[in-house]
Amino acid sequence: MTTAIPTTMPAWVRRTYGPAAGTRIEQLPVPVPGRGEVLLRVQATALNAGDVRLMLGDPLLVRPMFGFTRPKNPVRGMDVAGTIVAVGPDVVGAERGEDVIVELPGGGGLAPYAVVEASRVVARPPDITPDIAACLPIAGGTAWQALDAAGVGLTGQATPRVLIIGASGGVGTFAVQLAVLRGAEVWATCSARNAPLIEALGAARTLDHRQSPLSDLPAERFDAVIDIAGGIALRDLQRLVAPGGSVVLTTGDGGHIMGPVPRMLKALLLSIGRRPRIRSLAATSRPEVLRKLLALVAEGRIVPVIEREWPFDDAASALAHVEAGHTVGKVVVRAA
Ligand SMILES: NC(=O)c1ccc[n+]([C@@H]2O[C@H](COP(=O)([O-])OP(=O)(O)OC[C@H]3O[C@@H](n4cnc5c(N)ncnc54)[C@H](OP(=O)(O)O)[C@@H]3O)[C@@H](O)[C@H]2O)c1
Repeated sequence: MTTAIPTTMPAWVRRTYGPAAGTRIEQLPVPVPGRGEVLLRVQATALNAGDVRLMLGDPLLVRPMFGFTRPKNPVRGMDVAGTIVAVGPDVVGAERGEDVIVELPGGGGLAPYAVVEASRVVARPPDITPDIAACLPIAGGTAWQALDAAGVGLTGQATPRVLIIGASGGVGTFAVQLAVLRGAEVWATCSARNAPLIEALGAARTLDHRQSPLSDLPAERFDAVIDIAGGIALRDLQRLVAPGGSVVLTTGDGGHIMGPVPRMLKALLLSIGRRPRIRSLAATSRPEVLRKLLALVAEGRIVPVIEREWPFDDAASALAHVEAGHTVGKVVVRAA
């Protein structure tokens, strides 16, 4: 028996750019799926550092795409697990009643219903719960693509040594596990309080990012460096990598206006003629990677780390927690 879809819904809204504290519940119309789109009944939403960037409209660089003076979509939440409850015209391969996960470009997940292109959704296997599955799209997908960009596990090298800078957040906790699965010896930077968790995820060595400067490490120690946290000079990263290896930058950190762009340009310049190369990653939504991640979760080979789940009525606190920048693994908001 299908439940009727209401015409309006309570959604967490911030209509201007700014901190989580300004996020409020408002009654919004339930969106209607257009051509090639489906309507999801949201079951769980996982938050990312990217949600905070869009909420703050920082760096200013994001505003041309997401709204010059205010966010085009005032509802945050990009990683969603849900059930298809309505299908728009010309949709192929997605059906009402299907449980799926998806990355919503630009947000919309902190509401009971969200609309998305059907081509982006991936079926959620019944043995993976919505809260776990929702953690995968951005954090898991970015970790996977960063390791691919660094060639980890792709070059036939027996046991590459990989340094993961910023291992305790959403992307970091997946990167450690996936690198270990690809046969790497993983060294990871995190704070002392998170070291036991990161070692339990498979890291051979953890370095306290507040106490142990990477400049203490010998040169050419690693086959790849994955920089998730940022804040370290590019030359210092390059020094750590053996010839033939590479540095991959995923961090979105940087200035208030151009964000990571100046560092990405510098990385290009520093890579001219010099080895190892520094690559900047702009991860994209890749359903085929999501399916592989779901399979690894189903086999128990990777485990999404969820620091805490928040009830829908407290979603603003969840956003504020991510905004504080000390999330351990993932933060999930349960369905309304
Ligand atoms: N390039 C792309 O396509 C792409 C895609 C997704 C995400 N990103 C970027 O990747 C970064 C991580 O995203 P996320 O969602 O995983 O963030 P997150 O979960 O909010 O990361 C928080 C974690 O980072 C750790 N951390 C902060 N500064 C650190 C440092 N200097 N050294 C080591 N650890 C540090 C914190 O640990 P402590 O509590 O110890 O400080 C905390 O555990 C963000 O900058 C995001 O914009 C980029």
